[in-house]
Amino acid sequence: MTIELVEESSTLTPAPLLELTTGFWRFKTLAAAVELGLFATLSRRGTADTAEIAADLGLLPRPVRGLLSSCVALGLLDRRDGRYRNSELAERFLVPGRPHYFGGFVEYSDKHAYPAWHRLQEALRDDRPTTWDSGAQATPFVTTDPAILAGFWEAMFTISAFTADALADAYDFTAHTRLLDVGGGTGPFPVGLCRRYPHLRATVLDLPHITRMTRQRMVDLGMSDVVAAHDGDFLADPELPAGHDVILLSMILHDWGPDTGRELLAKCHAALPPGGAVIICELVLDDDESGPAPAALMGLNMLVETRAGFNYTYAEYRDWLLGAGFVDVRSVPLAAAGANAAIVARRP
Ligand SMILES: C[S@@+](CC[C@H](N)C(=O)[O-])C[C@H]1O[C@@H](n2cnc3c(N)ncnc32)[C@H](O)[C@@H]1O
Repeated sequence: MTIELVEESSTLTPAPLLELTTGFWRFKTLAAAVELGLFATLSRRGTADTAEIAADLGLLPRPVRGLLSSCVALGLLDRRDGRYRNSELAERFLVPGRPHYFGGFVEYSDKHAYPAWHRLQEALRDDRPTTWDSGAQATPFVTTDPAILAGFWEAMFTISAFTADALADAYDFTAHTRLLDVGGGTGPFPVGLCRRYPHLRATVLDLPHITRMTRQRMVDLGMSDVVAAHDGDFLADPELPAGHDVILLSMILHDWGPDTGRELLAKCHAALPPGGAVIICELVLDDDESGPAPAALMGLNMLVETRAGFNYTYAEYRDWLLGAGFVDVRSVPLAAAGANAAIVARRP
């Protein structure tokens, strides 16, 4: 057999494949820097040279040189006159204790999601999650493991705080007075929305081991008068709490299969007064299922993370909403990493 090297195109190279293949180098560099405490050290010191950083992190000269040059190249550090400092991005989001600390998500991804994605082929073959034992646990959300609880929900708060700002910009809440955030976690949306629309009051519905954290966070933020937490189970409870004129489902429907999604929307419809609105915030897949990449890949993440979840298309959400009795379905684009659209509908 002869192998022919055919020049089919002079411009096509394997460079995009090399970039895809080595994408994990970037993530692993970030994760190591976070977990070694590089950004905490530099925040404390202001600036430092290689030897000072090596001493603080307990690293030898060759490894620290590789770590520092890579972090500069990735935009995480700035280097001037042989001294390093955190870039604005790292100083704002990667220093523990900052209001929007993102390192929890990095660590969660490194310790929890990354090993599960290592078993992606298994998930693809078996149609089963790999981040948790679906034989032993009913859903991924019943865990009381403190590391997962703290890391996952802190990460959700950080990501969703920015989606909440984007939603407040894109959708006018002036006409609404009471928001129910179904599966609202530790409350990033109520915090962002009620700050932007001070007349708004909100309730977060979530499982009791989460609402405990929600209440504490509202106390810490001085918002317990504005945001209440309600212990509930949106799957098991026959109905959602009444008394709200807008219901939010952010990153909820992508956790479940279509039947559960339809049932949940029916419960939202029943809980709203006539004229009330439901808002679905998600990374929505294009109707032709060709992207965008964050939505498509989040759908694959749902394979790894959930039993039946997926990032659905606008056409699917629209169909479920109309089936539940909603009208005036429309999609409002969102400029956020956590959601590319808010799909809004009204109970007639
Ligand atoms: C992916 S997180 C989304 C959190 C939040 N909505 C956001 O966008 O930041 C899913 C949330 O649904 C909650 N959840 C899952 N199953 C639930 C159930 N049966 N009843 C109430 N909440 C549930 C989880 O505890 C978690 O807070």
